[in-house]
Amino acid sequence: MPFSSYFAANVPYEQVEKLTTSTGCSYIYSSSQPSVPIVGDWRTRYCTLDNSFQDVLERVHSFEIRKEDVWIVTSTKCGTTWTQEMTWLILNNYDFEKAKEIDLTIRSPFLEFNGVVPNVPHDTIDAADKLDSPRLIKSHLPVMLLPKQIWTKKPKIIYVFRNPKDAAISYYHHWRGMVGYTGTKEDFMQLYMDGYVNFNPFWPHVLDFWEMRHEPNVFFTSYERMKKNLSSVIKDICHFLEKDITEKELTQLVDHLSFDKMKDNPACNHVKEFESMKAAAGREVEEFRFVRRGIVGSHKDELPASVIQEFDDWTEDNLRPYNLTVEDIINYSKY
Ligand code: A3P
Repeated sequence: MPFSSYFAANVPYEQVEKLTTSTGCSYIYSSSQPSVPIVGDWRTRYCTLDNSFQDVLERVHSFEIRKEDVWIVTSTKCGTTWTQEMTWLILNNYDFEKAKEIDLTIRSPFLEFNGVVPNVPHDTIDAADKLDSPRLIKSHLPVMLLPKQIWTKKPKIIYVFRNPKDAAISYYHHWRGMVGYTGTKEDFMQLYMDGYVNFNPFWPHVLDFWEMRHEPNVFFTSYERMKKNLSSVIKDICHFLEKDITEKELTQLVDHLSFDKMKDNPACNHVKEFESMKAAAGREVEEFRFVRRGIVGSHKDELPASVIQEFDDWTEDNLRPYNLTVEDIINYSKY
């Protein structure tokens, strides 16, 4: 039998049913240990993914890395798009015209997108492969499912954390608007905490990168830190990428990345991805804007107190072994 980089185990049927739109999903385990600079029991670590991802995982695993690549890796809805737009501009001499002209998903491909929507003519792995250097590539995969050469060629990786209460509520809207979820909000939140939604479980995803935050090729930051002081995160990322920025460029970039500007920027609203998801599903969905509320604390008026409490307990349970709080992670600064 040919070597497979992963193996899949069934997710309980009743959980798949609750997702209401899924064609089935599996727990994906890596068959080999990643050469990462952290200790982990990789045999027990899994990622929940729709079964449609299984066609792309092998190609992702053997994807050819270039040392000069820059990777944006996040758990879903943690500010990926915002960070991609920022980083693309830093890497491309603040070419705002080109950024508006060409969709962000073309400038910075989502590597495993064909797992989200199979059978679309645009192959994101091919597109990423053919991109000119320095490539900016997005992935939501956890450490053990990323391309294996990431850990040997060591390109620069930017990891963005977000408070999971806000990320989960944002993901709920994403699933309603983009995937077509019709279940209840409470069910979705439970499924999220229990790790049944694509790319979860959340905490192991975050904590592996947290453990690697001091590695020279890893930059770990948070959505909340970007909201609090975007200029300072931009300067840190410029430092990390060894790129210059003038005061004028910084002012222009902060303005370009403001919520109001990005909300109305068609190149950053995943319009093409949305269209292909709608076409693949053959359905109409409710009006949905990818750049949605853009605030810290959106869970406060969108989740009932009982669910917020469950999230807090779940977070505490997951962070206790690391002697960490969410605030520690949010406020971390590499420089
Ligand atoms: P909300 O749904 O809470 O508004 P991702 O790109 O990882 O999928 O994250 C999407 C989230 O980032 C959404 O959160 C979106 O509104 C927010 N976002 C995108 N651009 C932003 C910006 N310029 N400022 C603040 N938040 C932004």
